Amino acid sequence: MPTAGILGAGAMGAGIAQVAAAAGWSVVLLDVDQTAAQAGIDGIAGRFAKRIERGRMTQDDADAIVGRISAGSPDSLSDCALLIEAIVEDIDMKVAALSALLEHLPADAIIASNTSSLSVTELGVRLDRADRTCGMHFFNPAPVMKLVEVVATEHCDRAVIDRVADIATKWGKTVAHCADTPGFIVNRVARPYYLEAFRCLEDGLCTPDLLDAAMRDAANFRMGPFELTDLIGHDVNTATTRSVWTSWDKPQRLCPVHAQEALVSAGDLGRKTGCGVYDHTGDAPVAVLRGMSDAPCLTSGLTEAAAAFAAGVSSQAATCPAPVQVALMRVLCGLFNEALWARHDGVADANAIDTAMTFGVNYPKGPFEWMSSFDGGVVDAAFDALSADVSAGRFTRP
Ligand SMILES: NC(=O)c1ccc[n+]([C@@H]2O[C@H](COP(=O)([O-])OP(=O)(O)OC[C@H]3O[C@@H](n4cnc5c(N)ncnc54)[C@H](O)[C@@H]3O)[C@@H](O)[C@H]2O)c1
Repeated sequence: MPTAGILGAGAMGAGIAQVAAAAGWSVVLLDVDQTAAQAGIDGIAGRFAKRIERGRMTQDDADAIVGRISAGSPDSLSDCALLIEAIVEDIDMKVAALSALLEHLPADAIIASNTSSLSVTELGVRLDRADRTCGMHFFNPAPVMKLVEVVATEHCDRAVIDRVADIATKWGKTVAHCADTPGFIVNRVARPYYLEAFRCLEDGLCTPDLLDAAMRDAANFRMGPFELTDLIGHDVNTATTRSVWTSWDKPQRLCPVHAQEALVSAGDLGRKTGCGVYDHTGDAPVAVLRGMSDAPCLTSGLTEAAAAFAAGVSSQAATCPAPVQVALMRVLCGLFNEALWARHDGVADANAIDTAMTFGVNYPKGPFEWMSSFDGGVVDAAFDALSADVSAGRFTRP
């Protein structure tokens, strides 16, 4: 039975430990906080107890999985094939914590970081293990979310990347290969889903509930952009936006939007504070954020392109009011364009981007598959209309 070491027993580390142990690996869980590793194991056992109660798991299976995870010390890493790091998002702390473990690891152990935003290349170089360091980016909650972005650096051995992808697959995950670039695939390509929605709101095209309903019911997303950012927390969502935007040299496409930043300044972070785009204190959420303009600029070029675009999305989208169709086109073309730029920038190929967006954030279709599902000329006409009437450069394709 191979052994994985997992450094950091918080939300992600404990979730990854569960995934590895469920796939038959022995897991050594380590944390700077002496109680955290055991608390992580107890948390897994607690989640299993609920599944046993509901008849979804047997006690024997739960005991076997939990029995494979131990709260360990660095000395327990001597036969560890893979060490996954999931501690606080701070490069100096990651380097320090991993450096202290290197002497306890086999020389050929693979080091995989679960970082969402730091440079895996820098981590490997500073550890002096660049050839055996890569990214293994799980999504939260790790036992539920199918995607793992396997992040390759220029220095990492190809055999290491292949081995990590193979392990993730054997752990029941779907792999998207990507390069070590800011936001990797998902956290970059998903940005326009939020940003363009807030821009549409600012422009007075729609109310939050109208656009959320259109994205859910007419475009088949699990959640609309406003209800989703209220759930994620606007502090977390805008911090990711700022990090990706600045790391990619501040393109207009990824620029933070005032309406969302203002929510953060006001402390209206979403569900966790009771209010965000919606007021969550009553029986049902009530949209409280309004646009800044009551008279959206709608040219005939824009509405005609949006009507054809909406018809290509679904029969339900075809019946939406014109301003909602324009908003739908703006959000989806924003996603399509970010996917095109990500491929252009060498982040990943089209297949990996489609895989990442469908398995990492449950999009109804990958952006490349979606673009090619429209009748010829519809997507080009949408981008032309958006470039002419909306853009500030946001809809310029690579
Ligand atoms: N939470 C998410 O949605 C998510 C998703 C994907 C990736 N990530 C990344 O995963 C990593 C962990 O995130 P999290 O949400 O699990 O954080 P968390 O705060 O829940 O857990 C971090 C754990 O690391 C421990 N820790 C801190 N410093 C340490 C050190 N020097 N040595 C050992 N342990 C140490 C803490 O005690 C804590 O138990 C971060 O890099 C984060 O960016 C998070």
